[in-house]
Amino acid sequence: MSDMSTIAHQPIYLKNYRAPHYLIDDINLSVDLFDDFAMVRSSLRVRANKHHETDLILNGEGLELISIHLEGRELTSNEYEVTDQLLIVRHVPANFQLDIVTKIYPKKNTALSGLYYANTSGTYCTQCEAEGFRHITYYLDHPDVLAKFTTTITADKKYPHLLSNGNLTASGELPNNRHFATWEDPFKKPCYLFALVAGDFDLIESQFTTQSNHEVALRIYVEKGLADQATHAMDSLKRAMRWDEGTFGREYDLDIYMIVAIGDFNMGAMENKGLNIFNTKYVLAKPETATDDDYINILSVIGHEYFHNWSGNRVTCRDWFQLSLKEGLTIFRDQSFTEDELSHAVMRIHDVRALRETQFPEDAGPLAHPVRPDAYIEINNFYTATVYNKGAEVLRMLQTILGKTTFRKGMDLYFSRHDGHAVTIEDFVKIMEDVSGLNLAQFRLWYTQAGTPRVEVTDHYDDITETYTLHFTQTCPPTPHQAHKKPMTIPIKMGLLDQSGQAMPLVLHQKMQGLEHTLLLTEEKQEVVFQHVTTKPTPSLLRHFSAPIILHYPYTDEALRFLFQHDLDAFNRWECGQQYSMRQLLQLTQSIEKGNALQMNEGWLAIYADLLMREAKEATVDLFFLSEMLALPSEKYIGEQMQTIAVDNIHAARVFARLEIAKKFADVFYQHYQANHTHTEKYKFDMKLIGQRQFKNSCLAYLMLLPNYAELGMTQFKAALKHNMTDTQVALAGLNQLDSPLREEALRAFYETYRHDALVVDKWLAIQASCYLPNALSQIKALYKHPAFDIKNPNKVYALIGAFGRNPTVFHQKNGEGYLFLADVVRELDQLNPQIAARMVNPLTQWRRYDAARQALMRERLEALLHTSLSSDVFELVSKSLEEK
Ligand code: BES
Ligand code: ZN
Repeated sequence: MSDMSTIAHQPIYLKNYRAPHYLIDDINLSVDLFDDFAMVRSSLRVRANKHHETDLILNGEGLELISIHLEGRELTSNEYEVTDQLLIVRHVPANFQLDIVTKIYPKKNTALSGLYYANTSGTYCTQCEAEGFRHITYYLDHPDVLAKFTTTITADKKYPHLLSNGNLTASGELPNNRHFATWEDPFKKPCYLFALVAGDFDLIESQFTTQSNHEVALRIYVEKGLADQATHAMDSLKRAMRWDEGTFGREYDLDIYMIVAIGDFNMGAMENKGLNIFNTKYVLAKPETATDDDYINILSVIGHEYFHNWSGNRVTCRDWFQLSLKEGLTIFRDQSFTEDELSHAVMRIHDVRALRETQFPEDAGPLAHPVRPDAYIEINNFYTATVYNKGAEVLRMLQTILGKTTFRKGMDLYFSRHDGHAVTIEDFVKIMEDVSGLNLAQFRLWYTQAGTPRVEVTDHYDDITETYTLHFTQTCPPTPHQAHKKPMTIPIKMGLLDQSGQAMPLVLHQKMQGLEHTLLLTEEKQEVVFQHVTTKPTPSLLRHFSAPIILHYPYTDEALRFLFQHDLDAFNRWECGQQYSMRQLLQLTQSIEKGNALQMNEGWLAIYADLLMREAKEATVDLFFLSEMLALPSEKYIGEQMQTIAVDNIHAARVFARLEIAKKFADVFYQHYQANHTHTEKYKFDMKLIGQRQFKNSCLAYLMLLPNYAELGMTQFKAALKHNMTDTQVALAGLNQLDSPLREEALRAFYETYRHDALVVDKWLAIQASCYLPNALSQIKALYKHPAFDIKNPNKVYALIGAFGRNPTVFHQKNGEGYLFLADVVRELDQLNPQIAARMVNPLTQWRRYDAARQALMRERLEALLHTSLSSDVFELVSKSLEEK
């Protein structure tokens, strides 16, 4: 491409990393908020790092420079230079004071990065990660510059709460109905962890006593009148604090921990030191407006941001290529937390499903990159499923390989050795080598090689020698700029089952290994021989999903059904069911392709019969887990198994199968529904009740595919409206797919009931954007113009446009109208909020996976986008997706 735009968007390379020439030890920041602008005074104590340079180069974008003083003397215009991204101060000494005043316009900031005014909350707030601080003042905006922050905020008293990081050290009145507050953060931090909030909130308060008897004040700030919706968040915070003490020995370190919920926020939440800023959707919950999933997500996101206090804040990243050092690690910690708190099997299923539906396609597509990327144009594009979720899987493997005790030792050493420093992934791996005595050279490939490894397994049983041999072959497909891959270290947790479903003792090299063992693959081809195997076993492989790979073993249908019933590993039971269903669904798509009559396989129905007639009736049944067992693989995951994603056939096959299952088991679904449906029970966030609700609602979702049961859905909808959003939403989602007046009626009632609750309106938009009735796209377009939609609010965009992009038959409709609509939206959004625009463009970037006609239409849209003036965010994704392979 010789476009002008390529010249403007230059990549940054890991190999070019240099330590900063200057360091900032202290920053005294004073932010004066006025109606139309803010004045930012920054006093920096600057010192040369090692060798002394002469020019100081600060980052700054979109700033109006008012004045600049060095050691108290105002600089003249020939002593410094301002570009659109930098401030260069010429010939500075080795140690000096620099005072800079800038003027900014938070109300004009629609990108929601830096200091901005959040319209829906009527508050000022900041988002500085990754590079937002440079939109507030000139600074060394890199994570390896750690400073002690003192922040004074002044504002009109209509903003009673003035908050920043650390401890409040002074506050008081000012003339003209104004006031001020000064905050001091005793911990040195990079500027991406800076935060400031000014607004009028309701506040809920509580305390936490740490394991060493330190009292911490906990405060959650929410929009006025919503305090009753913050109790679950508060409870989640305490659970997270307790868990991190018990599991990793990590204690909180300040006297106060604040969380502020904001309605206009690009991300889910942000871990600013002592002052987390959250999207309202991960704080606010009450039974009539939040579902079980919402409650679970709040627990996990509150945990995530809290855990960052150590993994990210106390020990931070040297540069943004190390992002997974904090994000992968913190995802690993929050996943472990929710597994421990809620359910090991179900949470693992959720996490693996997310990995396969988002990270695997990313790893197989034009934007594939390693967990530690080596180049980027726009860092915001690298907060990816690979950096986050694959990064978390890599740590889980490390824990599996080292064992929990040694891994924990490594974590302890990591936190103590690097406390207060900005470090690298290499530093982390080095520590794990130190504590384990292992050589992790090969393991490091997980950080540098992109692509999902594929492991083929075959076996051989010899009844004369009583040996059982497993043969493994690993490969990893080429990805952009990485044609050839080396074999990796892959832990395969496994067991063997005899014909009655009992676990068989594992003997390797004449040593007894117990009933479960983790094999470590290191070679391209590898063989493992088990001894004293008295009968031909069925292998259970990759238990609890012990590595982020695609494993293939040629199970017979019978073997899959057998493991589905008997495997001791709950995750693998679910997995075998998914594999069984996947085979059948893929066959159905083939039949549709060939125009053959469709038929349900008997074995498949037998699986459902067993679940519904036997397991569901056992006294010890886990209904949460059972509801996962009832679900078919998603259209997205089915598509991932195909060379060319047959959008319409996949949809038709899945609809057919669900309908057949519903018909066949209608009576028993209905019995279970009745047995687990309680009108009187008050909503509680409790695992047993969640299980009941999820299971009952899975039954209802099947039943609602049958015309006779639409009324049942409507009845639940009406009864649950205003009381229980879990039950309301499932019923509404079912009605939403019916070509019936009930659909309109329910959607109207829902909107009328909740039109003043922003988060519930988001659900209303997302449900309609997931509709696959024939006129869905025109309805989505109408919603785009509806007063409830607001393109400036990220949650609204995620709800409507995000859900539309994940609605395969509507987005990929053959006339290309879906592509055209998305491209138009992206272009409009890019002018306002490039980060959100970049997130929305993603579905188009996967164009190579579709048939020729769709490919051409998608490409056309991408190329047209490239010929407009794009942010570097959108430019990077669009241009990379069009690059020749
Ligand atoms: N540090 C991130 C927030 C962030 C992400 C800032 C991208 C700037 C750019 C935070 O810890 C985070 O990861 N948030 C997630 C939620 C989390 C539970 C996965 C988010 O916002 O999606
Ligand atoms: Zn994070």
